Amino acid sequence: MPAPPADARSMTGETISVERCGDDGVILRVATEARIPPLRAARFFMLRREDRLSPAIPRPFSVYRQRGRELEFLIKVMGAGTAALAACTKGTKLRVIGPLGNGWPTLDGSGEGKHAAPWVMLAGGIGSAPFYIAIEQALRGMDGKRPARKDEITYVYGAARKGLLYDLAAFESLGVRVSTCTDDGSHGFRGNVLELLAHMQAKRELPERVRLLACGPERMLEAVEAFARERKLACWLSLETVMGCGVGICNGCPLPTRSEGPLGSWPNAKCCVEGPVFSVDAVSLCTHGA
Ligand SMILES: Cc1cc2nc3c(=O)[nH]c(=O)nc-3n(C[C@H](O)[C@H](O)[C@H](O)COP(=O)(O)OP(=O)(O)OC[C@H]3O[C@@H](n4cnc5c(N)ncnc54)[C@H](O)[C@@H]3O)c2cc1C
Ligand code: FES
Repeated sequence: MPAPPADARSMTGETISVERCGDDGVILRVATEARIPPLRAARFFMLRREDRLSPAIPRPFSVYRQRGRELEFLIKVMGAGTAALAACTKGTKLRVIGPLGNGWPTLDGSGEGKHAAPWVMLAGGIGSAPFYIAIEQALRGMDGKRPARKDEITYVYGAARKGLLYDLAAFESLGVRVSTCTDDGSHGFRGNVLELLAHMQAKRELPERVRLLACGPERMLEAVEAFARERKLACWLSLETVMGCGVGICNGCPLPTRSEGPLGSWPNAKCCVEGPVFSVDAVSLCTHGA
């Protein structure tokens, strides 16, 4: 049975600050009771306030940045849980459960010549959260592999409008290529992240052979999965499935597996303990609800 990660624990945290970010987001900075070793990007924590102003069930959030004892979360206000977190003030006590989940694969340098396959990171709106430290880690080098060079990473950031491209300047400061798109044309290319990727490939700004990471709304991820499968591209999705417990108990986060893939012996995977990052070889969103 898949189990929660061995390093996960339930601890208290204290709000350091809450800053507004974009039209409907905040960056929540939290000091945790225990020091947490460096986290792999796309791992997540379940968060709620300790003063009963949050719903009883904590909500999952990717780690946005980690600085010593401090964790930062980039949060879009959706409903009661996120509104309660956005209303924290300095000193508000939090329940922090994690780190949970697996995280992105090793983000290494792309290889040379015909074997080169640069990373293209596709973020839709708040799907940007697991990418900031992913880019930092790829540039620093992971798991003893050659670090990626700045020109081996393209961050394609899309949203409905400019105000939902959260913390764009911070991504731009990382020094990799950042290409933006919006549905209404208010920033960057007019269109979605896949249309922008195809446009960049047609202009030979990117090769046909790329390695994809994607996080965003489910319909975007379904389209990315289909795009990657048609072109036989390596591709990983970080899923923001609704979760109950986050630790594998409630069966509230099932995802259909691909029978021919590495998880195929059982029809569903649990997003919280087997994900939230899955290779498109392992699961199929396109069959979800079909
Ligand atoms: C692994 C993981 C990492 C995540 N990381 C982040 C992050 O870094 N930043 C962030 O802002 N959010 C993130 N999310 C999504 C976040 O957990 C939800 O937005 C949050 O749980 C909503 O809680 P709420 O009480 O505010 O809204 P609710 O009252 O629970 O829901 C409000 C509305 O949002 C819808 N909704 C709730 N959850 C989701 C969801 N997961 N996807 C789509 N619609 C949803 C509901 O159907 C409802 O219409 C992540 C989710 C997962 C599973
Ligand atoms: S959220 Fe409970 S099993 Fe995944």
